[in-house]
Amino acid sequence: MRLVQISDTHLSHLGGITTANLGRIASWVNATFHPDLIVNTGDIVAASPDQPLDRAWALQVHAAFQAPVVYLPGNHDVGEPGSVPWKGLAITSERVAAHCDVFGPDRFAARHSEWLVIGINSELLGSGLDEEDDQWRWLEDQLAEPGPARVLLFSHKPLWLPRTTPSEAALSIPDRSRQRIMTLIGERLAAVGCGHLHRYRRRPRPEATGPLEVWAPSTGFIGQTETESPYFEQLGVVEWHLDGNAVNAWFRAPADLDEREGTSIDEMVRTVADLDAVG
Ligand SMILES: [Fe+2]
Ligand SMILES: [Fe+2]
Repeated sequence: MRLVQISDTHLSHLGGITTANLGRIASWVNATFHPDLIVNTGDIVAASPDQPLDRAWALQVHAAFQAPVVYLPGNHDVGEPGSVPWKGLAITSERVAAHCDVFGPDRFAARHSEWLVIGINSELLGSGLDEEDDQWRWLEDQLAEPGPARVLLFSHKPLWLPRTTPSEAALSIPDRSRQRIMTLIGERLAAVGCGHLHRYRRRPRPEATGPLEVWAPSTGFIGQTETESPYFEQLGVVEWHLDGNAVNAWFRAPADLDEREGTSIDEMVRTVADLDAVG
């Protein structure tokens, strides 16, 4: 099974660089990879979960991919849990419903011989919403079904904190939720693919013996949060192969992406300014 993970597409109905970059990636993926599935690990829309025009635009832009696409929400799609969400944008049932109305379910499971590929809505974890309970029950049901021995998990936020010192921003899934996931999946967990950090990194976690952890690069813009090296700060995608019992992942990128910081992209600056005006 061959998957392409895209992430942090940050698409605005105003168009611009993030839209142009995803268009280039779609043409190149179609011509080069022929994946079975494309997984968008969230932050699909520019920055605001309350801008329906961005959702409609993003869905339209993704139609350029020939392979089926599944969409996991990020903090910019549905808000986030915790006491200090970015710009006060907390996850709510209404925001989750608005996302799902356009992009379909906020989680997915796909089975392929030895493999169970699972995608979750990381923003629900620690939210206390009814939808969080639903997702835990669903995850337990998926894992209880007989069949695949190995699990590849996709999520917007990383499972582990991407730095050794605490962060003001919510950079990962809450500790208690991570522990519950690890207990549920156990040794079947072979690999985890996340987004959110706008940086690529690939390494086993813990070192050498644990599941493969891959941070996907953004397709939209570089530079966002303070992590610690080693990481790779360029735009691109992750190519995943599931072959027998083996899993592997590679950074891939076409040659024609426009690599900029979000703060130098007009559509991003305008979207954030609109949020500040509302807040
Ligand atoms: Fe992002
Ligand atoms: Fe994010």
